[in-house]
Amino acid sequence: MDLIRIEGIEKRYQSGEGEVWALDHVNLTIDQGEFLAIVGPSGSGKSTLMNVLGCLDLPTGGAYYLKGENVAQMTEDKLSKIRNTEIGFVFQGFNLIPTLDALENVELPLVYRRISRAERRQLSEEALVRVGLSDRMRHRPSQMSGGQQQRVAIARAIAAHPPVILADEPTGNLDSKSGQEVMQVLQELNEEGKTIILITHDDKIASTARRRIRLQDGKIVEIR
Ligand SMILES: Nc1ncnc2c1ncn2[C@@H]1O[C@H](COP(=O)(O)OP(=O)(O)OP(=O)(O)O)[C@@H](O)[C@H]1O
Ligand SMILES: [Mg+2]
Repeated sequence: MDLIRIEGIEKRYQSGEGEVWALDHVNLTIDQGEFLAIVGPSGSGKSTLMNVLGCLDLPTGGAYYLKGENVAQMTEDKLSKIRNTEIGFVFQGFNLIPTLDALENVELPLVYRRISRAERRQLSEEALVRVGLSDRMRHRPSQMSGGQQQRVAIARAIAAHPPVILADEPTGNLDSKSGQEVMQVLQELNEEGKTIILITHDDKIASTARRRIRLQDGKIVEIR
C-alpha cells in the first residue's frame, strides 16, 4: 500500500500583494521504505510540503491520504498521535535544548509518550549508539560539533522507532564532511527499512536518495 498519497494539494497564503501559492496542485505518492529527496530553490515550497506531509499544517485544498486515511478528516488527537509515533522530525537548526545533555535531549520527547523512565533511558541510549555518539551522551550541545548535534537530533527523532523520518535541510548548517556523516546515518536508517523524506536545496546531498522530485514555484517540475 502507498504510505503517502497526495492529490492536487494546494497551499495558499494571503499576503500584502495578494495570494501566494506555496503549493500549486501537487500530486505525489510515496511508498513505504523509500528514500525520497525533495529539491528546489528557496521559496519553491519545500518546507510547506514537508509541513503538510508531517501533519504539522493542513493544506488549503486537495487531499492527503496517509496509509489510506484522509488526513483532513482526522481529529487533532489523531494528528498529534501521528506526529508523535509515525514520524520523526529533523530540522536544519537541530533544535536541541542547550541546558540538557545529549541523552536528556533524546529522552525529552519520550516523556510525553507515557514511556517509563527506565525504558526512556534505554531507547535514548540505543538511539545515540545508533548514530555513533556512544561517547558523547553526557555532552551538552555547546560541547559538540554541528554534525554531532545533528546526530543527536536524529537520535531524538528515531528513539521511539517511528517508521518515517522527515528531514528539512538536515545538512544546511553543516560543513560537507559533517553533512556526509548525517547522510550516511539517514542512508543506513533507510536500509533498515525506514522511509526517509529529505528536503534539500543541494543536488549533491539529494543524490544519496533513490528518488528525487524537484519543486519550482509550488509545482513539481521534475521527477526522477
Ligand atoms: N506563513 C506564511 N505566510 C505567507 N507566505 C508564506 C508563509 N510560509 C511560506 N510562505 C511563502 O510560501 C512560499 C514557499 O515557502 P517555503 O518555506 O515552503 O519555501 P522553501 O522551498 O522551504 O524555501 P527555503 O529553501 O528558503 O527554505 C514562499 O514564497 C514563502 O514566502
Ligand atoms: Mg524551507
